[in-house]
Amino acid sequence: MKIEFAASAGAAPVLAVLAHEGRSLAGAGVQLDAATGGALSRAMNAGRFTGAKNSTQLVAGVSGCDAATIVITGAGEAGQVDDLALEAAAGAAYHAVKMSGADALAIDVSHLSAEQAARAAFAARLAGYRFLKYRTTLKPEKTPSIQTIRIVAADPKAAQKLYDAEFAPVAEAVEFSRDLVAEPANVLYPEEYARRVKGLEKLGLEVEVIGEKELARLGFRTLLAVGQGSVRDSQVVVMKWNGGAKGAQPLAFVGKGVCFDTGGISIKPAEGMEEMKWDMGGSAAVVGLMHALAGRKARANVVGVIGLVENMPDGAATRPGDVVETLSGQTVEILNTDAEGRLVLADCLWYTQERFKPKFMVDLATLTGAMIISLGLEYAGVFSNSDELAGNIGKAAPKVGENVWRMPIPEIYERHIDSPIADVKNMGNGRAGGSITAALFLQRFTNGVPWAHIDIAPTAWVKDSKNPTVPDGAVGWGVRTLDRMIRDSYEA
Ligand code: BES
Ligand code: MN
Ligand code: ZN
Repeated sequence: MKIEFAASAGAAPVLAVLAHEGRSLAGAGVQLDAATGGALSRAMNAGRFTGAKNSTQLVAGVSGCDAATIVITGAGEAGQVDDLALEAAAGAAYHAVKMSGADALAIDVSHLSAEQAARAAFAARLAGYRFLKYRTTLKPEKTPSIQTIRIVAADPKAAQKLYDAEFAPVAEAVEFSRDLVAEPANVLYPEEYARRVKGLEKLGLEVEVIGEKELARLGFRTLLAVGQGSVRDSQVVVMKWNGGAKGAQPLAFVGKGVCFDTGGISIKPAEGMEEMKWDMGGSAAVVGLMHALAGRKARANVVGVIGLVENMPDGAATRPGDVVETLSGQTVEILNTDAEGRLVLADCLWYTQERFKPKFMVDLATLTGAMIISLGLEYAGVFSNSDELAGNIGKAAPKVGENVWRMPIPEIYERHIDSPIADVKNMGNGRAGGSITAALFLQRFTNGVPWAHIDIAPTAWVKDSKNPTVPDGAVGWGVRTLDRMIRDSYEA
């Protein structure tokens, strides 16, 4: 999709203007209503459209306007346009006309700031994301027709500049993350994944790929135990962005990258197993974050560490009951080979704190089905030993339209993961508090460093999205929250 900024809508066949609750047109909509003899007001008054967020009203074929179609798009409550209402307005305008046959959509936000104009472009772009690389016979009339988004702005140059510097890098990062999550597991296995991340060196990231031999030498025995039933080699990828003060302690992000999770010997039921191609969503958030930071040249030192494995059952696979010594030296009884994410993260967390001595660690993982039972599909769970860190995540997420809820990690459940044969076992007693016992397991590998764990099992993939900037499928969840958190709380 082509994004441009201009002082007028030009020859765009579709023009979108904003309206607020109470059928109150904003900015260019007011003039357009006058120029068309009240066509916009008439259309609104004849229907149900009120200006509510994520709703639109089409007005077609009116004289006094160059565009063949006008989209009135809801920006919610009158008064100040908040960021998410603006994003919804731009996204909803795109969805209202994306299949119409029109090739360009102009969105007039000339009454708003340059930053808001850039944000409208950003939102329309995210709304327009599709993963179509394997659709070779899709008919043209089944694919979106809009090729160009033209943002009509008061100061198009200033808007373009802000878009290029601050918004496009984040959009590109979200798209990169969504692509990784959407890829099937026969294409995106650990080595191919690592190659794609290596390609991000062009952005100025340092990328180090650690293969199986070296992982074994370093002592990543638990991560390797997960991957040993697969013909694909496991990988750990370390990414560094050094945009902050020289020598300043880095922030660290760790991601679960299970490229496919069959459950291993504790195999999952066939129904729905295909969803486990997105069991690498946590790692994709970390990669997307690093992509965004490099793209917008964030003033912070950040490391990303992702553990990439495929969890398969075969003659070499880990068995239930096996005991493995983790990188930390603690031993684990692997009671259920389907509780593999925590095994991958245990070694990655320990490695990260030991090697980088970070200010804090945040891990992201599609870790437990129980998280979906706890919070439903709209919230990710945050578990943390630091009120400050959890607070900063909790402040950033709602600003970018991602929902998080803090969960407890009480000491009283520690006994549920004590093992009679090893230091810890990889599941609790039965299903009770499954997300909490998983988080408590991870905590044992943080060595007391300020840490937060975000269980994104509910949010990594969406089937009936109500958010116009998040099309169905891979969400790229976490890229925007983490980028925003760093911007708001940790940049010099
Ligand atoms: N990847 C799954 C968790 C998951 C389930 C993510 C559904 C997204 C949607 C994870 O590896 C897993 O299988 N966890 C088990 C843990 C259990 C065996 C203790 C679970 O949640 O059932
Ligand atoms: Mn599993
Ligand atoms: Zn898993």
